[in-house]
Amino acid sequence: MYDFKIEAGDKPTLYRDLAQMLEALIGDETDAVANMANAAGLIWESVPDLNWAGFYRNIGGELVLGPFQGRPACIRIAFGQGVCGVAAETRQVQRVEDVHSFPGHIACDSASNSEIVLPLIRDGELLGVLDLDSPRHARFDAEDEAGLVAIAGILAKAL
Ligand code: SME
Repeated sequence: MYDFKIEAGDKPTLYRDLAQMLEALIGDETDAVANMANAAGLIWESVPDLNWAGFYRNIGGELVLGPFQGRPACIRIAFGQGVCGVAAETRQVQRVEDVHSFPGHIACDSASNSEIVLPLIRDGELLGVLDLDSPRHARFDAEDEAGLVAIAGILAKAL
């Protein structure tokens, strides 16, 4: 139904195109699961070198697995635990060049070597986190972070 192809030569263009496509996919849809599912699919198809892309939702102060692309993952993560739990607890983006040196990293897929986790916050409420994993060391740089912060902002309005 949606035949999209984002092929950008540089990261700012990639994330600008991705943000536009995400806004179009969400439209005026208010169902959070549908929007997370389409966002995971769009990111998976558009951002190179990922082995996992998806969501954990804040359910009563615990992170619970949401829509994703990639291998089946751990279902529940406590705040403060692993990269996702630290992002949830601190409400700060966690950009990890080498997950093996991150204390408490939760290895859902042994192929993962780097990771970025973005908190999704609306009106002061933590809705969950967006988590991307890569088999490449130091896959995510400051340009990826800036682009994904914008994506997280769009998502936080649509969940
Ligand atoms: N590595 C994450 C766990 C989630 S998986 O990567 C999908 C963490 O340490 O929080």
